[in-house]
Amino acid sequence: MLVAVSFIKSKYSEKETIDIINQTSSDFLHVDIMDGIFVENKNYDFDDIELFVKDNHLPLDVHLMCNNPFSYIEDYIKLKPYNITFHIEAVESPEKLINYLHDNGIKCGLAINPDTDIKEIIPYLDKIDTVLVMSVYPGKGGQKFIPSVVNKINELSKLKGNFVIEVDGGVNNETIALLDNADIVVSGSYVCCSDDYEERIKKLK
Ligand code: DX5
Ligand code: ZN
Repeated sequence: MLVAVSFIKSKYSEKETIDIINQTSSDFLHVDIMDGIFVENKNYDFDDIELFVKDNHLPLDVHLMCNNPFSYIEDYIKLKPYNITFHIEAVESPEKLINYLHDNGIKCGLAINPDTDIKEIIPYLDKIDTVLVMSVYPGKGGQKFIPSVVNKINELSKLKGNFVIEVDGGVNNETIALLDNADIVVSGSYVCCSDDYEERIKKLK
């Protein structure tokens, strides 16, 4: 199992948290961006993120919880991320963004909320690299895993395509047992609110 650590909920500052994550076996640094419109909370501006990741060497897994994701992508591609994920609920037709990311050599993820049917993303499965299955309603860290999304993950794993399945929200040492069909898990508070990040990451792996 690959692990992407989200730094939004931690007892340390963002910069300190990212420094600690960089000393672990985390596979990606998950960067959660909230716009205050698509989700209620607004968190960071691009300038904040640029400073936070200055010394980071982990591949960046950018998760845009934002309306009009195209307007953010121009900035975020400057960071040369491993991938950028935007929400299927936030766009009318994702093709333009998928192509734009691929033209810039960046992998593309599509995220789906817990109450969005997988049939919404089926037309794009042969064009994208990642499906980010939200296992909480996006907008804040530290929420409880919604067990009904497990069916969605299992259904997705039966569909054809070159995409990986990433699961985001409420992942911990107990809920990980439900995620046999996931390739990557995002973990925020379970890792970053602990005293031993590496021990927790190892448990998830
Ligand atoms: C939810 C975010 C998640 C979340 C993960 O809006 O996309 O990445 O912060 O944090 P935990 O693991 O605490 O649910
Ligand atoms: Zn996320």
